[in-house]
Amino acid sequence: MAFAGRSAHAVARALKASQGIQNYDVNTMATRQEMRSYVCGQCHVTYYFQPPNKRLTFPWAKGLRVEDIIAVEDEQKIKEWDHPDSGAGLIKARHPEFEMWNQGVHARSGVACADCHMPYMRQGGLKISDHQINSPLLKINRSCQTCHHFPEEELKARVEDIQDRFFNLRNTALDALVDLIEDIKAEKAKGATDAQLAAARTYQRKGQFMIDFVMSENSMGFHAPQEATRILGDAINQCRLGQLSLHGAPAPSHNPPNIENVPPSPGPAASPAKQTMKQEKSATVAQLHQH
Ligand code: HEC
Ligand code: HEC
Ligand code: HEC
Repeated sequence: MAFAGRSAHAVARALKASQGIQNYDVNTMATRQEMRSYVCGQCHVTYYFQPPNKRLTFPWAKGLRVEDIIAVEDEQKIKEWDHPDSGAGLIKARHPEFEMWNQGVHARSGVACADCHMPYMRQGGLKISDHQINSPLLKINRSCQTCHHFPEEELKARVEDIQDRFFNLRNTALDALVDLIEDIKAEKAKGATDAQLAAARTYQRKGQFMIDFVMSENSMGFHAPQEATRILGDAINQCRLGQLSLHGAPAPSHNPPNIENVPPSPGPAASPAKQTMKQEKSATVAQLHQH
Protein backbone atom coordinates (compact mmCIF):
# COMPACT_ATOMS: atom_id res chain seq x y z
CA MET A 1 0.00 0.00 0.00
CA ALA A 2 1.19 3.50 -0.72
CA PHE A 3 0.87 5.97 2.08
CA ALA A 4 3.07 8.77 0.77
CA GLY A 5 1.63 12.24 0.59
CA ARG A 6 -1.27 11.62 2.94
CA SER A 7 -1.92 13.33 6.21
CA ALA A 8 -4.73 13.80 8.68
CA HIS A 9 -4.83 17.34 7.30
CA ALA A 10 -5.47 16.11 3.73
CA VAL A 11 -8.16 13.68 4.97
CA ALA A 12 -9.96 16.38 6.92
CA ARG A 13 -9.79 18.91 4.07
CA ALA A 14 -11.12 16.42 1.51
CA LEU A 15 -13.90 15.34 3.88
CA LYS A 16 -14.99 18.88 4.69
CA ALA A 17 -14.75 19.93 1.03
CA SER A 18 -17.17 17.08 0.19
CA GLN A 19 -19.55 18.73 2.69
CA GLY A 20 -19.12 22.12 1.05
CA ILE A 21 -16.67 23.53 3.61
CA GLN A 22 -13.62 25.02 1.89
CA ASN A 23 -10.16 25.73 3.30
CA TYR A 24 -10.69 23.63 6.38
CA ASP A 25 -7.81 23.89 8.82
CA VAL A 26 -7.52 20.73 10.83
CA ASN A 27 -5.24 22.34 13.41
CA THR A 28 -7.68 25.01 14.46
CA MET A 29 -11.05 23.59 13.44
CA ALA A 30 -11.10 19.86 14.27
CA THR A 31 -12.31 18.69 17.64
CA ARG A 32 -10.05 16.29 19.50
CA GLN A 33 -12.60 13.51 18.88
CA GLU A 34 -12.69 14.21 15.10
CA MET A 35 -8.90 14.23 15.05
CA ARG A 36 -8.86 10.76 16.61
CA SER A 37 -10.53 9.40 13.45
CA TYR A 38 -8.80 11.58 10.83
CA VAL A 39 -5.53 10.08 12.03
CA CYS A 40 -6.71 6.60 11.09
CA GLY A 41 -8.26 7.96 7.89
CA GLN A 42 -4.77 8.80 6.62
CA CYS A 43 -4.47 5.16 5.65
CA HIS A 44 -7.84 3.43 6.11
CA VAL A 45 -9.48 5.05 3.07
CA THR A 46 -9.90 4.36 -0.61
CA TYR A 47 -8.06 6.35 -3.27
CA TYR A 48 -7.08 6.28 -6.93
CA PHE A 49 -4.19 7.61 -9.00
CA GLN A 50 -5.09 10.71 -11.00
CA PRO A 51 -3.53 10.88 -14.47
CA PRO A 52 -1.33 12.19 -15.94
CA ASN A 53 1.13 12.23 -13.03
CA LYS A 54 -0.60 9.55 -10.93
CA ARG A 55 -1.30 11.82 -7.99
CA LEU A 56 -2.89 9.91 -5.12
CA THR A 57 -6.44 11.26 -4.89
CA PHE A 58 -9.36 10.82 -2.49
CA PRO A 59 -12.47 10.45 -4.70
CA TRP A 60 -14.64 12.40 -2.26
CA ALA A 61 -15.56 15.52 -4.25
CA LYS A 62 -19.22 14.45 -4.29
CA GLY A 63 -19.35 12.77 -0.86
CA LEU A 64 -18.16 9.62 0.88
CA ARG A 65 -20.82 7.15 -0.21
CA VAL A 66 -19.93 4.48 -2.71
CA GLU A 67 -22.11 6.03 -5.45
CA ASP A 68 -20.42 9.39 -4.91
CA ILE A 69 -17.03 7.76 -5.30
CA ILE A 70 -18.03 5.90 -8.47
CA ALA A 71 -19.43 9.13 -9.90
CA VAL A 72 -16.09 10.90 -9.40
CA GLU A 73 -14.07 8.07 -10.93
CA ASP A 74 -16.50 7.87 -13.87
CA GLU A 75 -16.21 11.60 -14.43
CA GLN A 76 -12.41 11.36 -14.35
CA LYS A 77 -12.62 8.36 -16.74
CA ILE A 78 -10.53 6.23 -14.38
CA LYS A 79 -9.93 2.68 -15.51
CA GLU A 80 -7.44 0.44 -13.70
CA TRP A 81 -7.80 -2.68 -15.82
CA ASP A 82 -10.03 -4.48 -18.30
CA HIS A 83 -11.81 -7.59 -17.12
CA PRO A 84 -10.24 -10.43 -19.14
CA ASP A 85 -13.53 -12.25 -19.86
CA SER A 86 -16.07 -9.46 -20.20
CA GLY A 87 -13.86 -6.60 -21.38
CA ALA A 88 -15.39 -4.19 -18.82
CA GLY A 89 -13.10 -1.32 -17.72
CA LEU A 90 -12.87 -1.59 -13.94
CA ILE A 91 -11.82 0.39 -10.88
CA LYS A 92 -10.48 -0.87 -7.55
CA ALA A 93 -11.65 -0.09 -4.01
CA ARG A 94 -9.04 0.10 -1.24
CA HIS A 95 -9.85 -0.47 2.46
CA PRO A 96 -12.54 2.23 2.87
CA GLU A 97 -12.98 1.84 6.66
CA PHE A 98 -13.16 5.59 7.16
CA GLU A 99 -15.83 6.06 4.49
CA MET A 100 -18.00 3.18 5.76
CA TRP A 101 -17.63 4.14 9.42
CA ASN A 102 -18.86 7.58 8.38
CA GLN A 103 -22.19 6.07 7.25
CA GLY A 104 -22.84 4.28 10.53
CA VAL A 105 -24.53 5.14 13.78
CA HIS A 106 -21.27 5.14 15.73
CA ALA A 107 -19.74 7.94 13.66
CA ARG A 108 -23.02 9.78 13.89
CA SER A 109 -22.90 9.44 17.66
CA GLY A 110 -19.35 10.75 17.78
CA VAL A 111 -17.67 7.40 18.49
CA ALA A 112 -14.14 7.48 17.04
CA CYS A 113 -12.07 4.64 15.61
CA ALA A 114 -9.80 4.78 18.61
CA ASP A 115 -12.69 4.44 21.09
CA CYS A 116 -13.12 0.86 19.93
CA HIS A 117 -9.69 -0.03 18.56
CA MET A 118 -7.46 1.75 21.08
CA PRO A 119 -9.52 1.77 24.28
CA TYR A 120 -8.03 3.09 27.48
CA MET A 121 -6.21 0.71 29.78
CA ARG A 122 -4.37 0.99 33.04
CA GLN A 123 -0.64 0.54 33.17
CA GLY A 124 0.62 0.91 36.69
CA GLY A 125 -1.03 4.08 37.93
CA LEU A 126 -1.42 5.53 34.42
CA LYS A 127 -4.43 5.57 32.09
CA ILE A 128 -3.13 5.14 28.54
CA SER A 129 -4.67 4.18 25.21
CA ASP A 130 -4.03 0.64 24.01
CA HIS A 131 -1.52 0.66 21.13
CA GLN A 132 -2.06 -2.98 20.29
CA ILE A 133 -4.47 -2.10 17.46
CA ASN A 134 -6.54 -5.14 16.54
CA SER A 135 -10.06 -6.56 16.79
CA PRO A 136 -12.14 -4.87 19.50
CA LEU A 137 -13.71 -8.26 20.09
CA LEU A 138 -10.51 -9.28 21.86
CA LYS A 139 -11.17 -6.60 24.50
CA ILE A 140 -14.92 -6.11 24.62
CA ASN A 141 -14.87 -5.02 28.23
CA ARG A 142 -12.77 -1.96 27.39
CA SER A 143 -13.92 -1.42 23.77
CA CYS A 144 -17.67 -1.74 24.03
CA GLN A 145 -18.84 -2.09 27.60
CA THR A 146 -17.79 1.44 28.44
CA CYS A 147 -20.95 2.44 26.51
CA HIS A 148 -23.02 -0.75 26.12
CA HIS A 149 -24.06 -2.35 29.37
CA PHE A 150 -24.70 -5.84 28.05
CA PRO A 151 -22.77 -9.01 28.81
CA GLU A 152 -19.74 -9.73 26.69
CA GLU A 153 -21.34 -12.75 24.98
CA GLU A 154 -24.34 -10.64 23.96
CA LEU A 155 -22.17 -7.94 22.40
CA LYS A 156 -20.08 -10.51 20.59
CA ALA A 157 -23.26 -12.20 19.30
CA ARG A 158 -24.54 -8.88 17.95
CA VAL A 159 -21.37 -8.35 15.98
CA GLU A 160 -21.41 -11.91 14.70
CA ASP A 161 -25.06 -11.60 13.61
CA ILE A 162 -24.19 -8.52 11.59
CA GLN A 163 -21.16 -10.23 10.06
CA ASP A 164 -23.04 -13.47 9.24
CA ARG A 165 -25.81 -11.58 7.46
CA PHE A 166 -23.23 -9.55 5.62
CA PHE A 167 -21.30 -12.66 4.61
CA ASN A 168 -24.38 -14.42 3.21
CA LEU A 169 -25.52 -11.43 1.20
CA ARG A 170 -22.00 -10.90 -0.07
CA ASN A 171 -21.97 -14.46 -1.40
CA THR A 172 -25.26 -13.88 -3.19
CA ALA A 173 -23.86 -10.68 -4.70
CA LEU A 174 -20.72 -12.46 -5.88
CA ASP A 175 -22.86 -15.15 -7.55
CA ALA A 176 -24.86 -12.44 -9.31
CA LEU A 177 -21.67 -10.78 -10.51
CA VAL A 178 -20.24 -14.03 -11.86
CA ASP A 179 -23.52 -14.71 -13.69
CA LEU A 180 -23.35 -11.29 -15.35
CA ILE A 181 -19.72 -11.79 -16.38
CA GLU A 182 -20.54 -15.22 -17.82
CA ASP A 183 -23.41 -13.76 -19.82
CA ILE A 184 -21.30 -10.94 -21.24
CA LYS A 185 -18.62 -13.43 -22.16
CA ALA A 186 -21.18 -15.66 -23.90
CA GLU A 187 -22.66 -12.77 -25.88
CA LYS A 188 -19.17 -11.68 -26.87
CA ALA A 189 -18.40 -15.18 -28.09
CA LYS A 190 -21.58 -15.05 -30.19
CA GLY A 191 -20.24 -11.92 -31.88
CA ALA A 192 -21.87 -9.07 -29.94
CA THR A 193 -20.24 -5.73 -30.67
CA ASP A 194 -18.69 -3.38 -28.10
CA ALA A 195 -21.69 -1.09 -28.56
CA GLN A 196 -24.06 -3.95 -27.77
CA LEU A 197 -22.06 -4.85 -24.66
CA ALA A 198 -21.50 -1.31 -23.41
CA ALA A 199 -24.46 -1.09 -21.05
CA ALA A 200 -23.78 -4.49 -19.47
CA ARG A 201 -20.12 -3.59 -18.97
CA THR A 202 -21.09 -0.35 -17.26
CA TYR A 203 -23.38 -2.26 -14.92
CA GLN A 204 -20.54 -4.68 -14.18
CA ARG A 205 -18.15 -1.82 -13.41
CA LYS A 206 -20.58 -0.33 -10.92
CA GLY A 207 -21.80 -3.57 -9.33
CA GLN A 208 -18.32 -5.00 -9.03
CA PHE A 209 -16.94 -1.84 -7.40
CA MET A 210 -19.80 -1.83 -4.90
CA ILE A 211 -19.09 -5.42 -3.85
CA ASP A 212 -15.35 -4.72 -3.79
CA PHE A 213 -15.98 -1.63 -1.65
CA VAL A 214 -17.72 -3.47 1.18
CA MET A 215 -15.36 -6.44 0.92
CA SER A 216 -12.17 -4.42 1.11
CA GLU A 217 -13.71 -2.64 4.09
CA ASN A 218 -12.40 -4.98 6.73
CA SER A 219 -15.12 -4.97 9.41
CA MET A 220 -17.42 -7.36 7.49
CA GLY A 221 -20.23 -4.88 7.59
CA PHE A 222 -19.93 -3.92 11.27
CA HIS A 223 -18.89 -0.29 10.84
CA ALA A 224 -22.18 0.50 9.05
CA PRO A 225 -24.40 -2.59 8.84
CA GLN A 226 -27.39 -1.09 7.04
CA GLU A 227 -25.22 0.77 4.57
CA ALA A 228 -23.24 -2.40 3.82
CA THR A 229 -26.40 -4.41 3.10
CA ARG A 230 -27.88 -1.54 1.11
CA ILE A 231 -24.78 -1.53 -1.09
CA LEU A 232 -24.83 -5.30 -1.59
CA GLY A 233 -28.56 -5.22 -2.40
CA ASP A 234 -27.99 -2.55 -5.00
CA ALA A 235 -24.98 -4.40 -6.41
CA ILE A 236 -27.20 -7.42 -7.00
CA ASN A 237 -29.60 -5.13 -8.83
CA GLN A 238 -26.78 -3.75 -11.00
CA CYS A 239 -25.94 -7.31 -12.06
CA ARG A 240 -29.60 -8.02 -12.81
CA LEU A 241 -29.90 -4.86 -14.90
CA GLY A 242 -26.72 -5.78 -16.74
CA GLN A 243 -28.09 -9.19 -17.67
CA LEU A 244 -31.38 -7.67 -18.83
CA SER A 245 -29.54 -5.15 -20.98
CA LEU A 246 -27.89 -8.03 -22.84
CA HIS A 247 -31.28 -9.35 -23.79
CA GLY A 248 -32.34 -6.06 -25.28
CA ALA A 249 -34.62 -5.07 -22.46
CA PRO A 250 -34.80 -1.37 -21.79
CA ALA A 251 -33.44 -0.63 -18.33
CA PRO A 252 -36.46 -1.31 -16.14
CA SER A 253 -37.47 1.21 -13.56
CA HIS A 254 -37.68 0.00 -10.01
CA ASN A 255 -40.23 2.69 -9.38
CA PRO A 256 -43.59 1.35 -8.36
CA PRO A 257 -46.60 1.41 -10.64
CA ASN A 258 -48.53 4.62 -11.11
CA ILE A 259 -49.51 5.80 -7.68
CA GLU A 260 -51.65 8.74 -8.71
CA ASN A 261 -55.22 8.74 -7.50
CA VAL A 262 -54.44 6.42 -4.66
CA PRO A 263 -55.36 8.06 -1.42
CA PRO A 264 -52.70 7.77 1.27
CA SER A 265 -53.61 5.17 3.83
CA PRO A 266 -55.00 6.59 7.02
CA GLY A 267 -52.88 6.78 10.11
CA PRO A 268 -50.57 9.22 11.76
CA ALA A 269 -47.95 10.88 9.56
CA ALA A 270 -44.84 8.76 9.62
CA SER A 271 -41.45 9.72 8.22
CA PRO A 272 -41.61 10.88 4.57
CA ALA A 273 -40.09 7.61 3.35
CA LYS A 274 -42.56 5.56 5.32
CA GLN A 275 -45.46 7.62 4.06
CA THR A 276 -44.33 7.10 0.45
CA MET A 277 -43.94 3.40 1.03
CA LYS A 278 -47.45 3.13 2.43
CA GLN A 279 -48.84 4.86 -0.64
CA GLU A 280 -46.84 2.72 -3.01
CA LYS A 281 -47.87 -0.40 -1.21
CA SER A 282 -51.57 0.23 -1.63
CA ALA A 283 -50.99 1.12 -5.28
CA THR A 284 -48.99 -2.04 -5.87
CA VAL A 285 -51.58 -4.20 -4.16
CA ALA A 286 -54.32 -2.58 -6.26
CA GLN A 287 -52.34 -3.27 -9.44
CA LEU A 288 -51.67 -6.86 -8.53
CA HIS A 289 -55.37 -7.43 -7.95
CA GLN A 290 -56.11 -6.37 -11.52
CA HIS A 291 -54.25 -9.39 -12.88
C1 HEC B 1 0.30 4.97 8.35
C2 HEC B 1 -0.84 4.22 7.94
C3 HEC B 1 -1.82 3.75 9.01
C4 HEC B 1 -2.41 4.51 10.01
C5 HEC B 1 -2.23 5.97 10.30
C6 HEC B 1 -3.30 3.60 10.71
N1 HEC B 1 -3.23 2.35 10.15
FE1 HEC B 1 -4.27 0.72 10.76
N2 HEC B 1 -3.26 -0.45 9.43
C7 HEC B 1 -2.40 0.02 8.47
C8 HEC B 1 -1.94 -1.09 7.65
C9 HEC B 1 -1.00 -1.00 6.48
C10 HEC B 1 -2.56 -2.26 8.19
C11 HEC B 1 -2.41 -3.69 7.71
C12 HEC B 1 -1.33 -4.32 8.51
C13 HEC B 1 -1.16 -5.75 8.17
O1 HEC B 1 -1.87 -6.27 7.30
O2 HEC B 1 -0.32 -6.37 8.82
C14 HEC B 1 -3.37 -1.81 9.32
C15 HEC B 1 -4.12 -2.66 10.10
C16 HEC B 1 -5.07 -2.24 11.02
C17 HEC B 1 -5.98 -3.11 11.76
C18 HEC B 1 -6.01 -4.61 11.69
C19 HEC B 1 -4.91 -5.09 12.62
C20 HEC B 1 -4.99 -6.53 13.02
O3 HEC B 1 -3.93 -7.16 13.02
O4 HEC B 1 -6.05 -7.04 13.37
C21 HEC B 1 -6.77 -2.30 12.53
C22 HEC B 1 -7.88 -2.74 13.47
C23 HEC B 1 -6.34 -0.93 12.29
N3 HEC B 1 -5.31 -0.94 11.38
C24 HEC B 1 -6.92 0.18 12.88
C25 HEC B 1 -6.37 1.45 12.85
C26 HEC B 1 -6.84 2.56 13.66
C27 HEC B 1 -8.01 2.49 14.62
C28 HEC B 1 -6.04 3.63 13.36
C29 HEC B 1 -6.08 5.01 13.99
C30 HEC B 1 -5.89 5.04 15.42
C31 HEC B 1 -5.08 3.18 12.36
N4 HEC B 1 -5.29 1.85 12.08
C32 HEC B 1 -4.10 3.99 11.78
C33 HEC B 1 -2.02 1.33 8.27
C34 HEC B 1 -2.35 2.39 9.11
C1 HEC C 1 -18.00 0.97 17.56
C2 HEC C 1 -16.69 0.39 17.51
C3 HEC C 1 -15.83 0.62 16.30
C4 HEC C 1 -15.49 1.81 15.70
C5 HEC C 1 -15.93 3.20 16.09
C6 HEC C 1 -14.60 1.48 14.62
N1 HEC C 1 -14.42 0.14 14.56
FE1 HEC C 1 -13.21 -0.85 13.28
N2 HEC C 1 -14.00 -2.63 13.90
C7 HEC C 1 -14.88 -2.79 14.95
C8 HEC C 1 -15.28 -4.19 15.02
C9 HEC C 1 -16.24 -4.79 16.03
C10 HEC C 1 -14.60 -4.85 13.98
C11 HEC C 1 -14.68 -6.33 13.61
C12 HEC C 1 -13.61 -7.07 14.33
C13 HEC C 1 -13.63 -8.55 14.06
O1 HEC C 1 -14.28 -9.00 13.12
O2 HEC C 1 -12.94 -9.26 14.79
C14 HEC C 1 -13.78 -3.85 13.32
C15 HEC C 1 -12.88 -4.13 12.28
C16 HEC C 1 -11.97 -3.21 11.80
C17 HEC C 1 -10.86 -3.53 10.92
C18 HEC C 1 -10.48 -4.93 10.45
C19 HEC C 1 -9.71 -5.58 11.55
C20 HEC C 1 -9.18 -6.93 11.16
O3 HEC C 1 -8.88 -7.69 12.08
O4 HEC C 1 -9.07 -7.21 9.98
C21 HEC C 1 -10.21 -2.36 10.65
C22 HEC C 1 -8.97 -2.19 9.78
C23 HEC C 1 -10.90 -1.30 11.34
N3 HEC C 1 -11.97 -1.85 12.03
C24 HEC C 1 -10.56 0.03 11.30
C25 HEC C 1 -11.37 1.05 11.80
C26 HEC C 1 -11.20 2.45 11.50
C27 HEC C 1 -10.09 3.04 10.65
C28 HEC C 1 -12.20 3.11 12.15
C29 HEC C 1 -12.56 4.59 12.08
C30 HEC C 1 -12.62 5.20 10.76
C31 HEC C 1 -12.98 2.12 12.90
N4 HEC C 1 -12.44 0.90 12.64
C32 HEC C 1 -14.04 2.41 13.74
C33 HEC C 1 -15.31 -1.79 15.79
C34 HEC C 1 -15.18 -0.45 15.54
C1 HEC D 1 -18.30 5.69 23.06
C2 HEC D 1 -19.53 4.91 23.12
C3 HEC D 1 -19.63 3.62 22.31
C4 HEC D 1 -18.70 2.62 22.18
C5 HEC D 1 -17.30 2.56 22.75
C6 HEC D 1 -19.35 1.57 21.42
N1 HEC D 1 -20.61 1.93 21.07
FE1 HEC D 1 -21.96 0.83 20.01
N2 HEC D 1 -23.24 2.39 19.99
C7 HEC D 1 -23.05 3.58 20.65
C8 HEC D 1 -24.14 4.46 20.32
C9 HEC D 1 -24.34 5.87 20.86
C10 HEC D 1 -25.00 3.75 19.45
C11 HEC D 1 -26.25 4.24 18.78
C12 HEC D 1 -27.45 3.68 19.43
C13 HEC D 1 -27.90 4.52 20.56
O1 HEC D 1 -27.97 5.75 20.41
O2 HEC D 1 -28.17 3.94 21.61
C14 HEC D 1 -24.40 2.43 19.27
C15 HEC D 1 -24.97 1.41 18.49
C16 HEC D 1 -24.49 0.11 18.44
C17 HEC D 1 -25.09 -0.97 17.72
C18 HEC D 1 -26.32 -0.89 16.86
C19 HEC D 1 -25.72 -0.64 15.47
C20 HEC D 1 -26.60 -0.15 14.41
O3 HEC D 1 -26.05 0.11 13.31
O4 HEC D 1 -27.80 0.03 14.60
C21 HEC D 1 -24.31 -2.09 17.91
C22 HEC D 1 -24.51 -3.49 17.36
C23 HEC D 1 -23.18 -1.66 18.71
N3 HEC D 1 -23.33 -0.33 19.02
C24 HEC D 1 -22.16 -2.49 19.10
C25 HEC D 1 -20.96 -2.02 19.66
C26 HEC D 1 -19.78 -2.85 19.85
C27 HEC D 1 -19.69 -4.32 19.52
C28 HEC D 1 -18.82 -2.04 20.39
C29 HEC D 1 -17.39 -2.40 20.71
C30 HEC D 1 -16.61 -2.95 19.62
C31 HEC D 1 -19.40 -0.72 20.54
N4 HEC D 1 -20.68 -0.76 20.08
C32 HEC D 1 -18.73 0.37 21.10
C33 HEC D 1 -22.00 3.91 21.45
C34 HEC D 1 -20.83 3.18 21.60
